[in-house]
Amino acid sequence: MRPKTKSCCSQSLLNALILALTLVFLPSCGADTPQDDSLRIGVALYTQDDTFISALAQSLEQLAQEEESRIGQKITLLISDSRSNQTTQMGQVDRFLARGCDVLCVNIVDRTAAAVIVDKAEAEGVPLIFFNRQPVDEDIQRWNQTFYVGASAQESGALQGQLVLDAWQSDPVRWDRSGDGVLQYVMLEGEPGHQDSLLRTEYTIQAITDGGVEVERLARDTANWNRAQSAARMTHWLEEFGEQIEVILSNNDDMALGAIDALSETGRALEDWPLIVGIDATAPALEAVAAGQLYGTVHNDERGQAQAMLNLSLALYAGEDPGGAVDLEDDHYIWLPYRQVTQDNLSAFRTP
Ligand code: GAL
Repeated sequence: MRPKTKSCCSQSLLNALILALTLVFLPSCGADTPQDDSLRIGVALYTQDDTFISALAQSLEQLAQEEESRIGQKITLLISDSRSNQTTQMGQVDRFLARGCDVLCVNIVDRTAAAVIVDKAEAEGVPLIFFNRQPVDEDIQRWNQTFYVGASAQESGALQGQLVLDAWQSDPVRWDRSGDGVLQYVMLEGEPGHQDSLLRTEYTIQAITDGGVEVERLARDTANWNRAQSAARMTHWLEEFGEQIEVILSNNDDMALGAIDALSETGRALEDWPLIVGIDATAPALEAVAAGQLYGTVHNDERGQAQAMLNLSLALYAGEDPGGAVDLEDDHYIWLPYRQVTQDNLSAFRTP
């Protein structure tokens, strides 16, 4: 079966599940004032149609249920889909506040809108946790009850670059197809202006060149984190550059999978494919690593990020010092580490 078909199914299943959870949870927060001692967390996702974000929301849901039975604190999640529209998200934030949410978790659509959200939360005295999409520090520092949970974009780029460097140096005959000692690559970039797109692109290349390997960029373009857009770009590049492409660098796994879709379409034998790397370690990407299509990826710890958001929410709700519940940097930031994944350590990341 082509990976494309497989992933589309799992993506729509995930979306359906999140939608079901949203429908289950929204009515319980329908009143303007809280009616029980439930911790109400309003969670605005920039879009549900994103593999990594769907997985993070699913983990949040699962962990909230586990935590509820462990500590006996009722937790109600209100999950909304902002559909990549900042105006839609502002309306959702207003509704969460009007419905008496105790904590807001915001996966902001447009980072330049962060200050307005901080001001709204502060006016109502509701602690605010941004996650995954990082506002500028000035906005985070605006109020002492504003936090950011995420992972360092720079670190993920550096780890991806090191993966490529190691592969290139350990098997130059296989990967340096032209034999000229220069690494010819194409770069699939995430959303323009997103920290993860800008810094991953920069630090991946820096890690390779710092390792003493000369690079030549054949092409770059955004595919907005999206598998289908990436497949379209890659099809075009394969026609234009053919076997000149030695390495495909992708800012995330979904776009790496799109490149794999395009290569599969050509019917080219797997041993003649370029080296492909992604970031996230999503379930379909781990399958592609197992199949030898994706050389490696970098694990973006969605479960760890969801757990940190939950621990922080519980501490804030209880009026405790958040520093006792999570590892706080500069009083506002919680950073989760990235880890490299290849066939060598795949079993540590795949759920049986
Ligand atoms: C990145 C992730 C991407 C996409 C993006 C959305 O951290 O690697 O796959 O989910 O966040 O903001």
